[in-house]
Amino acid sequence: MSAVQTPSSTLAYTPINTPFGAELEKGVRLLDFDDAQLEALQQLAAERGVVVVRDQAMTMDEQVAFAGRIGPLFTTPVNRRKVPPELIMIHADERSKFIAGSTWHSDVSSEEIPPGLSMLRMEVVPEAGGDTLFADMTHAYDALSDSMKAFVKGLHAVHEPRGHYLYVGGAKRLDELPTSTHPVVRTHPRTGRHAIYVNVGFVSHIVELSRRESDALLRMLYDHTAYLVAAQIRVHWEPDTVVFWDNRVVQHQASWDYYPGVRHGYRATVRGEAPVLTEVADT
Ligand code: SIN
Repeated sequence: MSAVQTPSSTLAYTPINTPFGAELEKGVRLLDFDDAQLEALQQLAAERGVVVVRDQAMTMDEQVAFAGRIGPLFTTPVNRRKVPPELIMIHADERSKFIAGSTWHSDVSSEEIPPGLSMLRMEVVPEAGGDTLFADMTHAYDALSDSMKAFVKGLHAVHEPRGHYLYVGGAKRLDELPTSTHPVVRTHPRTGRHAIYVNVGFVSHIVELSRRESDALLRMLYDHTAYLVAAQIRVHWEPDTVVFWDNRVVQHQASWDYYPGVRHGYRATVRGEAPVLTEVADT
């Protein structure tokens, strides 16, 4: 068992691999967390990217209230009756033609102030499969050569809302949603560590390069992420599992390997801050 320590709290966890992912010890109850524990949870997500918490039965309103203590939540204006606007329903069954999040991405990175933490809670899980894969984009950055690190740190990428939940859900047209430009490498405000911040779900091109150069560089960075299995974990869901991931430093992808099975849950998405690259030395 390891632990993350903040000035006023300690949170014990089991690592999922050596540097990436954490599972909190059995018996913790998120809804009982005080502010100090909530702070430790955010620190743990910053340091380990992904935090898994089992056996967290809660209502939709309780999930909204908990996630809202971390920061302002993104909203979905067209939810079905009974689903609060602060939650995105994640659902697949035998009638599904596609599922949300089935390519590597960081949640709604096309927003000017994109998400920090996402909080996904699963209620119904398929008999087998349905895992979510996570990639540690800090590790991916660290694994680049020094020359490539120096090159990509000078670049910015245009993030278009093609993978935005409001566009995918049919609520808004592409031109009604923001397109934003972010640095290709961003610095985590809590840890000071650099992470690659381009993803195949949202990025159209790199501002400083020609289209051909941009396509080639993005393809290399996506392959680098997809092939670097040492930077990846996969989380297997049980009913009432909650997973937090820090979109600043993590990409994820849902595996649709359970058709025609049913998988059903809800995601709350907390706004972070505008991504910036600050010049701290690479470790
Ligand atoms: C998502 O937030 O992209 C969905 C992830 C999942 O369903 O596992």
